[in-house]
Amino acid sequence: MGNIMVAKRLDQIAFAGIRKVFEKANQLEAQGKKVIHFEIGRPDFDTPAHIKEAAKQALDKGFVHYAPNGGIPVLREALAGRLAADKELTYNPDTEIIMTAGGQEALYLSFLSILNEGDEVILPDPCFGPFPLAVRLAGGVPVKIGLQPQQNYCYDWDAVTRAVSPRTKAIVVNSPHNPTGGVWSEEQLKAVAAFACKHDLWLICDDAYDHLVYGGCRLSPAGFPEMRERTILCGSLSKTYAMTGWRIGYIAAVEPVINAAIRLQQNIMLSLCTFAQHGAAAGLAGSQDCIRVMAAEFARRRQLVLEMVSQTPGIELAGIPKGAFYVFPRITLPNMTSAQVADYLLDNAGVAVVDGLAFGENGNGHFRLSYAVSFEDCREGLERIATAMTVLVQKQ
Ligand SMILES: Cc1ncc(COP(=O)(O)O)c(C=O)c1O
Repeated sequence: MGNIMVAKRLDQIAFAGIRKVFEKANQLEAQGKKVIHFEIGRPDFDTPAHIKEAAKQALDKGFVHYAPNGGIPVLREALAGRLAADKELTYNPDTEIIMTAGGQEALYLSFLSILNEGDEVILPDPCFGPFPLAVRLAGGVPVKIGLQPQQNYCYDWDAVTRAVSPRTKAIVVNSPHNPTGGVWSEEQLKAVAAFACKHDLWLICDDAYDHLVYGGCRLSPAGFPEMRERTILCGSLSKTYAMTGWRIGYIAAVEPVINAAIRLQQNIMLSLCTFAQHGAAAGLAGSQDCIRVMAAEFARRRQLVLEMVSQTPGIELAGIPKGAFYVFPRITLPNMTSAQVADYLLDNAGVAVVDGLAFGENGNGHFRLSYAVSFEDCREGLERIATAMTVLVQKQ
C-alpha cells in the first residue's frame, strides 16, 4: 500500500484559503440567505461584446484545433502592439512573448524557467497565494518580506537587504498589489530595479492589475535602463477585460526565458484554447474604451468603500489602496483573530471576506475585501459590516 499515495511534494500545497470561504458562502446561499461576495477577485462585468463576437466567429470559421505552443501569431502581435502603446515596451512577438493560461500559468512557467534547486526568491508578504507555492514547486525557496502600508505597501528595504543572499535569484514586484491594493511610486519601482541590478537578480513583475490604477504610478520597471534584460513581465487579460474564465495571460521577456517557457508549455498544456485566443486578440487590438469604462466604475466603488471602511468601528486602513479592486483593513479588536472576525462576518452579517492570513503571516490581523461586486452590493455589504463590527466592539 506504501506506493499508492500522493507525492510528498504535495504536502506543501494546500487548497487556497479563499476556497473555504467561497464554499461556506455557497452553503449559506443554498439555505436561502443573501451573501455579499467580497471574497472573490473577479470583475463582475461581462466580457466586452466585440471580444465575445471574435471568439464566436473563430468557432464558426473552424478554429477548433491545436494552436502554436507560444500562442497564435495574431494574438502575440496584438499583445506586442499593446505593450508598445501602453508602456512603451518593445518585444518581438515571435521570440519574446508566450501566451499562457492566465497570469497564474505565466508565474509558474517563469519560476520553472529560471530557478535551480534551492534558489531563493524574494516575495511580498502578504501576497497572492500561488506565489510561494509556485516557487516551491519549481524547487526554489520563498523568502517573504513584510510590506509597509504607509509606503504604498512597498517592501521594507532594510528587511530585503538583510534577506538577500548568494542564493537569491529573483525578486517579485506586484503593483497594483493583491491583496492590499498598494501601488508603488516611480521612486519605489526604480529602487527595486536598482536593487535587482546591484544583486544581479531577475525581476518578476506581476502586472495582473496594471490597468486598474486610481491616480498612482503606471510605469513598468521593464522600461527602466538595463531592466529589459532581467525583467520577466507576467500579465493577464483576466481582470483588464473581465475575462477570468477565458484563461489568457502572457509572459514578455528575453528570448532564452520565452524559449524555456515554450518548451514547458509544449509538454504541459500543449496550447491554449484556440478560439479564446482569437477573442483575446480582438480585445488587445480593438478599442480600449471598455477598460476605461470598467476602471471608472471600480474607481467609483473604491471611493465609496474607502469612505465606509473609514467610518466602521473595529477596523482601520493603515495604507491607501490605489489600485486593483481590493482593500485590506486591519482589525483593531484586541481579543479576536482575523479568522474569527472573517467567520463572524459571514455567519452573522452574510458578508464573505478573506482572512488576511490566507495571504501570508503578515496578513494576519487583516481581511481582504474585493469591491469587484456591484455598487449597491458594496454599499449593502459595508453597511452590514459596520453593524456587525459595532456589536463586536461593544462586546470587547
Ligand atoms: C496578483 C495576481 N497575479 C496573477 C493572478 C492570476 O490571474 P489569472 O490567472 O486569472 O490571469 C491573480 C489572480 O487573482 C492575481 O491576483
